[in-house]
Amino acid sequence: MTIMRTLLLAAAVPVVFAQTQTQPAGSPFPSSTYENATDPRAQAGAVSGQTSPPKYPSPWGEGLGDWDAAYAQAHDFVSQLTLTEKVNLTTGVGWQSEKCVGNTGSIPRLGFKALCMQDSPLGVRFADFVSAFPAGGTIAATWDRKLFYQRGYGMGSEHKEKGIDAQLGPVVGPLGRQAAGGRNWEGFSPDPVLAGIACAETVKGIQDAGVMSTTKHYILNEQEHFRQGAPPASLGLNALSSNVDDVTMHELYLWPFADAVRAGTVSIMCSYNQINNSQACQNSYTQNYLLKNELGFQGFIMSDWAATHSGVSSALAGLDQTMPGDIAFNSGTTYFGTNLTIAVLNGTVPQWRLDDMAVRIIAAWYYVDRPGNQVADAPNFSSWTSDTDGFRHYYQSLDYQRVNDHIDVRGNHGAEIRAQAAAGTVLLKNTGALPLSGKEQLTSVFGEDAAENPLGPNGCSDRGCDEGTLAMGWGSGTANFPYLVTPLEAIKAEVLSNGGSFESVTDNYAYSTIAALGRRTAQVGGACIAFGNADAGEGYITVDNNTGDRNNLTIWGDFDLLVANLTAQCNNTIVVLHTVGPVITNSFVDNPNVTAIIWAGIPGQESGNAITDILFGKVNPGGKLPFTIGSSRGEYGTEILYEPNNGNNSPQDNFEEGIFIDYRAFDKLGETPVFEFGLGLSYTTFSYSDLGVQAHSAPAYTAPSGNTGPAPTYGTVSNITSSYVFPASIDRIWNYIYPYLNSTSLSVSSGDPAYGINYTWPAGSYDSSSQPYVAAGGAPGGNPRLYDVLFTVTATITNTGDVVGDEVAQLYVNLGGADDAKVVLRNFDRLTIQPGATATFSADITRRDLSNWDSASQNWFISSATKTIFVGSSSRKLPLTTTLDLSGIITGPGSGGNGTAPVYPSSSASGYSSSATSSGDGSSSASTSVGSSVSVSSASSPTGYSSSFTTSAKPSGPAGYSHSSPPAYSPTGYRA
Ligand SMILES: *[C@@H]1O[C@H](CO)[C@@H](O)[C@H](O)[C@H]1NC(C)=O
Ligand SMILES: *[C@@H]1O[C@H](CO)[C@@H](O)[C@H](O)[C@H]1NC(C)=O
Ligand SMILES: *[C@@H]1O[C@H](CO)[C@@H](O)[C@H](O)[C@H]1NC(C)=O
Repeated sequence: MTIMRTLLLAAAVPVVFAQTQTQPAGSPFPSSTYENATDPRAQAGAVSGQTSPPKYPSPWGEGLGDWDAAYAQAHDFVSQLTLTEKVNLTTGVGWQSEKCVGNTGSIPRLGFKALCMQDSPLGVRFADFVSAFPAGGTIAATWDRKLFYQRGYGMGSEHKEKGIDAQLGPVVGPLGRQAAGGRNWEGFSPDPVLAGIACAETVKGIQDAGVMSTTKHYILNEQEHFRQGAPPASLGLNALSSNVDDVTMHELYLWPFADAVRAGTVSIMCSYNQINNSQACQNSYTQNYLLKNELGFQGFIMSDWAATHSGVSSALAGLDQTMPGDIAFNSGTTYFGTNLTIAVLNGTVPQWRLDDMAVRIIAAWYYVDRPGNQVADAPNFSSWTSDTDGFRHYYQSLDYQRVNDHIDVRGNHGAEIRAQAAAGTVLLKNTGALPLSGKEQLTSVFGEDAAENPLGPNGCSDRGCDEGTLAMGWGSGTANFPYLVTPLEAIKAEVLSNGGSFESVTDNYAYSTIAALGRRTAQVGGACIAFGNADAGEGYITVDNNTGDRNNLTIWGDFDLLVANLTAQCNNTIVVLHTVGPVITNSFVDNPNVTAIIWAGIPGQESGNAITDILFGKVNPGGKLPFTIGSSRGEYGTEILYEPNNGNNSPQDNFEEGIFIDYRAFDKLGETPVFEFGLGLSYTTFSYSDLGVQAHSAPAYTAPSGNTGPAPTYGTVSNITSSYVFPASIDRIWNYIYPYLNSTSLSVSSGDPAYGINYTWPAGSYDSSSQPYVAAGGAPGGNPRLYDVLFTVTATITNTGDVVGDEVAQLYVNLGGADDAKVVLRNFDRLTIQPGATATFSADITRRDLSNWDSASQNWFISSATKTIFVGSSSRKLPLTTTLDLSGIITGPGSGGNGTAPVYPSSSASGYSSSATSSGDGSSSASTSVGSSVSVSSASSPTGYSSSFTTSAKPSGPAGYSHSSPPAYSPTGYRA
């Protein structure tokens, strides 16, 4: 059945999103200081650094680094395109209008298919016969570059085989500022070096498989509450503003994005939150200046879903592509599409800017060799139904056809996932109980977290519940399990194969039954294994009153009580934790009857097999904690903003702690963690000796020379308006986003009530002349001299035990300034060492590793303060230490990054700067005025996921983003 619905859009669509031009409150923010800042730099930088100053023009991609070939191909391709064909590349066709979660327009004339963008960072979302890989936080815990890459390549391969162009991952935003942050588990670690290395290897893996990576969410998207304003929608709040100073931005949050860009990530997704009171997707400071200029990003910026809040302002501020295309889901209107065509025709967006958007997207496509990695009939699945047949245009209920080919793309990834999850399992405590011998007469397993969700592994939409064993958090960062091996079934199979006896109690509240089984197990010298979890996810789903972010750091399901009851009877209780991040373990950590504690992370589909491999010693644990476990949430020094704090204006989240998150906070505040960052035990032991440091001669740190060329344009844009009106030949799909005009009147076509209002755009927006490179920039990832290796550190690691094992040796640095962290991680390596044997740990230290950021000169510098290095097995077990000889490499004074202007040997040209004072989204007055303009508001509108557009008339399918309440079968209310 095919339902054809062709409507005259211009007449049918009311103007829903009329906006008035408003100046964001308090911009630039704030002109006060952070009076309670714990990081002096956050305080000192408050006046000058915590703004997003206007930075224009938007840098045009040039093919820097290894992008030259891709750019040459992109130039040839884009030169052939018409205005509407270029616009098609920049705009999604609307939510659920095609089969992927995001789909651009196509270019039928040249046989160029629509691009398919698909979640998620741990596998293909909304598809069958795909793998559910370990989550980011768990792969991070392997501290193994080879496994980072292997997982990336595996995920990329599966996306490729399903016909996807861009995988929406990996995640380094959130970085993990707050321990309770809802999406931290999707990313890697609150340490920027571990996160950056994991991200870079993941990017390489995904892209070597022939798929574009989209590193996200850029930037400071550190909590779920108010990320889009709502919830609660009733307040009509504007999105939360994450306010950060310039030093913290560079030394912490931007750091892993620099690694992603350097590794070649072809796409970066701008986030929902505001940054210094400017919307992320129209923030010229973060997009034009930091990302495209300083970091030399040559790919394209894609909006998060409905994170675009303006047309011209966003385009001028560096946004290249709006997703899923419509202003709000299924609004039928768009800031790009028709509006972008109009903006180019009336001159408010210069042709060179549109050409740059198109070239960046097409260059990305060539950079990962998408042409050489096509599959037939792509995409060969539909996100919106698991049935074989369905509507190709799901929202419109149009074109009923075969939409799911059910292609199994898993390859051998199951075996890899099992090994990855085991390698990311962290042994925190072991008084000798582990490994189990397999000869235990009775092995008992306790806790709901060991068992299967009664609804099955995919029973809760987007994993939006906490039932059964936890192997994935909830939200868009999920994939369907092809199967989920539970701990219960895997341990049982192992015990039975050894001829042992096995029993379990998976009801956390069956206290007397738990106690009785624990008692019997202890009496025969058996093992009691208790499984607990803590879940979190994306804010559009609430589970047990946790709106994405966790409400607390406790273990769910009254696990503390379960353990208390069990340990009262069983003196050999082994605790296994599947958690999205730190949890409070105080009630049992020192209990002598708790003989072992394991953090098993968020392991993916092979959960049970991986933990069984560890428990029975088939794999010797070698994972290390990628975050700190403390004894109270207050110790972390950062907190989720749970209540709006600014009336109905944007909640203000001041990052007053500066760079001091996670272990840096514990060190600064003099607190002792329960389990420190980097900790992980083994079934063997290791000793560290023979620290060596080799200095390398590297070129001096100089600014890149010369200027960019002027902004190029490709082809000529005809200004004959009538040639862009909707072609009669097109069978127009209702509520679908197109690039065409609805009328020869630009004003009528736009439908924007503010069209033509005389408006001034930020100074420099239209400047297409050649621009100087910034001192810290010049290539993808920033100034290439930042990555020169200045020192190589070596140490000897000896396996002093009886079994082969892996040790992750870690290199930390103290930068020596008064305001620097006690130690910061700078490198690591995971070594496999035979019993009695030694291995040499070798780790490079780059110029960036020893640098601080100076806000005044907008550059990195190496201070004269003593730099001390440490090598050891965790952030607090650092037996080897020495200082570095800094001769010849100092480029600034000794005080560290506290705003004192350093001396450095190069020009401090900071191109694209402007003296105008305004927020980065171009919302305040500036001197450039362009005649008749498309006046699209740069003020943001709260467009949360909780849109009122109903999809109830549609065939049933997996619920998409468009619900803000928990799924019906999500249990609520009975957990603490
Ligand atoms: C600083 O802390 C004091 C004492 O807790 C509090 O009264 C004040 O409101 C805080 N200032 C800011 C800007 O948060
Ligand atoms: C834009 O994309 C749509 C959807 O794929 C397609 O129907 C249309 O022909 C494209 N327009 C141009 C000018 O290529
Ligand atoms: C153009 O953008 C404005 C908002 O600035 C919106 O109201 C209008 O509906 C858009 N036009 C189209 C055709 O999508």
